[in-house]
Amino acid sequence: MIRFAVALLGAFFLYISVSYADPGARFADGHTRAPETSPHAALEAQVSDILDRFAATMEPEALVALTPEVVLAFLTGEERAYLSTAFVHFSIDRPARIYIAYDGMYGEQPFWLEELGFERREDLDFIVDVEDPYEVWQREYEAGEVRLGIPSFSGELKPYVVFAAPLGGDEAIEITPLVAGTDVQIAAEGGEPFIDDNDYFNALPAELDGLPVLRSYESWEFVSRMVGFFRTTDYPSSATPDHIVQTWQGDPATEITIQWRTSAGAASDPVLWYAPENDAESVAYARAETMTLRSRQVVNDPAIDLHRVRLTGLEPGGQYAFGVSADGGENWSEVRHFHTAAEPGAQTWRFVYLGDPQNGLDEWGDLIRQAYERFPEIRFWMIAGDLIDHGTERDNWDQFFAEGSTVFDRSAVVPAIGNHDSHGGHPTLYLQQFALPDNGSEHLDPGRTYHLTYQDMLIVVMDSNYDLIEPETQTEWLDRVLGASDARWKVVIYHHPFYASRPGRDNQPLRDAWGPIFDRHNVDIAFQGHDHAYMRTVPMRGHRPAEPGEHGTIYLVAVSGTKMYEQELRDIAAFGTTNERTYQLIEMDSAAGTLSYRAINAEGETIDAFDLAKD
Ligand SMILES: [Fe+2]
Repeated sequence: MIRFAVALLGAFFLYISVSYADPGARFADGHTRAPETSPHAALEAQVSDILDRFAATMEPEALVALTPEVVLAFLTGEERAYLSTAFVHFSIDRPARIYIAYDGMYGEQPFWLEELGFERREDLDFIVDVEDPYEVWQREYEAGEVRLGIPSFSGELKPYVVFAAPLGGDEAIEITPLVAGTDVQIAAEGGEPFIDDNDYFNALPAELDGLPVLRSYESWEFVSRMVGFFRTTDYPSSATPDHIVQTWQGDPATEITIQWRTSAGAASDPVLWYAPENDAESVAYARAETMTLRSRQVVNDPAIDLHRVRLTGLEPGGQYAFGVSADGGENWSEVRHFHTAAEPGAQTWRFVYLGDPQNGLDEWGDLIRQAYERFPEIRFWMIAGDLIDHGTERDNWDQFFAEGSTVFDRSAVVPAIGNHDSHGGHPTLYLQQFALPDNGSEHLDPGRTYHLTYQDMLIVVMDSNYDLIEPETQTEWLDRVLGASDARWKVVIYHHPFYASRPGRDNQPLRDAWGPIFDRHNVDIAFQGHDHAYMRTVPMRGHRPAEPGEHGTIYLVAVSGTKMYEQELRDIAAFGTTNERTYQLIEMDSAAGTLSYRAINAEGETIDAFDLAKD
C-alpha cells in the first residue's frame, strides 16, 4: 500500500515543501574534529608522499601486491636513509651497547638493522606473552643521540623495544626518550614491552634483565605501512543505495537517524520518504546531508558518499515505514521500517548485546540474522567494541556494514569503540561512519562517549581505550549523566572488561576510575567485550561480590565473531565458557519491572540466563 502511495507521490515530490540543510562536505554534528597531533607527523608525511608516488606510477593490481623488496627498490637513497632513522629517537649519557628486540613470529626484520651495523644475538632471544619469540640484535654507540628506523613496511611487525647497557664502568646508563610518548622502564620479568598493551616479558636473559628499556606504542605499528596499505574492497559502492543503517543521535522516542551509501558523486538527489505504518497519506520526505569519505588505500573504490537524514518530532511508540533514493525519488529502495521508543512503562521491548564481531564477519552476519529471525521485535543492537579488525581499513568497515545492514536497516545499532576500532591511534572511520549523539564527555571527540535513554533504561557508552585516553576524561561526565537520570535501569557499555576472563588481561585503571561511580549510582549491568570468551560475574560492589541486600553490578564479557581466547575463571565469575559465539537477548517488561537475559549460541541454545526485577 505504502509502496504504491510512494510511487504515486514520487511524481509530486518536487512540489512538496521539505526543509533540509544544505548538503555539504561534512556532517553538522562535529564528527570531523582533527585527530590529536602525532609524534610521527613528519614520518607519516614522508610515507604518505611515497604512497602517492606508488599510486601515481603503478596499476591497482601491483599496488595491492607490493612486497618489502619492491618497496626497497622503489625508495630513493634519501628516503631509505630517512626511514632507517625516523622512528625511535633517544640520547644516552655514556657509550653503550644498544639491543633491539622484536617479535620474530612475523618472519620480518627491520630493513635497516644490518645497514646500521647491528649484529644478531640469537643467544639472547626471549619470549613475550608466553608464546611470542623475540629476536635480539646489538650494536655499540657513543654517548649522544641515537636514531633508529621504522619497525616494518607491512605494519604486521610491531614496534621493537630498545635495551641499553653501559660499555665499561658500573654506573647505570641514562636513556632520555626524544619522541613524545615513549618511555623508559627497568626490564624485568613481567614488565611490558608496549605502553598500550598488556603483553609481558617472560624470563629475560641475564644480559638484558635489569637494563633500562625504551618502549613505544603497539598502536604505532602502521605508521610506516606500505606493504598491505593498498587494498581492494569486496563490497564496492555503486549508484544504488546500500548499507542502510539506523542509529540515534537524540531521543529514541521521537527521533531516528538513517544513513546509506552510494559511490561518490553518484547520487543526484539523495532523499528519504517515511510514513507512519498504515498511514500512507502522511508520507513526508527529507533530503539527506552527504559526506564524501575518501580512502586512497581502497584501490577499487577510493571514495564513497554517506547520506544521512535525522528525523525528529516523531510519535513515541510508533512504527514507521521508509525508503531511500539516490535520484530524488525516481528509484526507491525496498520499503523498510523503524520504531520509536514508547513512553517509559508503556511496552515490553527487546534488545541484543553483542561482544566483539571483529573476525569472521560473514559468520557474524549469519548470527545476527539468525537472532533477528527468531526475535523480530529486536529494537536495537548494542555492540561492545571491536566491530572490525583494522579500524583504519575501510574495506573492513565495508564488510561490517554489508553484513550489519541486513538488520541495522530495520533496528538501530548502539556501538562502543574498541581497541581495533582505534587502530592507528584514532577511531576516525568509526566516528565518520556512525551518526551518534553529541552528548558525551566534553574532553573527547563527539561520538566516542554518549548516552541514550530507551524507555526506562539509561544506556551510557564509554571509550575504554585507556592507553590512548585517560579514563579520567570521562569520570565527571559519567557521574553527572548517571546522577541526573531517574531511569529504572542504568547500564553501561565499553570494551575492556573490569574483570578479565583470563589472567594477564587485567584493566585496573578502568576499575579504579569508574568502579566507584558505577557503585554510587547503582549501575545494573556493564556490557563489555575484548576477552573473546563468555563470562558473567556475580553482582559486584567495591570490587568484591555484593553482600545480600546490597546493590551490585553484573559485569558481562561476550564475543560474537570467530576469534576465541582461553579463559581461567576466578571466584567472582557466576558463569564462563569459551569457544562460543553468542548473542544476548534482553527482554524488558516495563509493566512488571523485569529484565530477562539470555545468552544464545550459534546453535540457538541458551548457555546462560538470569533475571532481574525492580519496582
Ligand atoms: Fe579488543
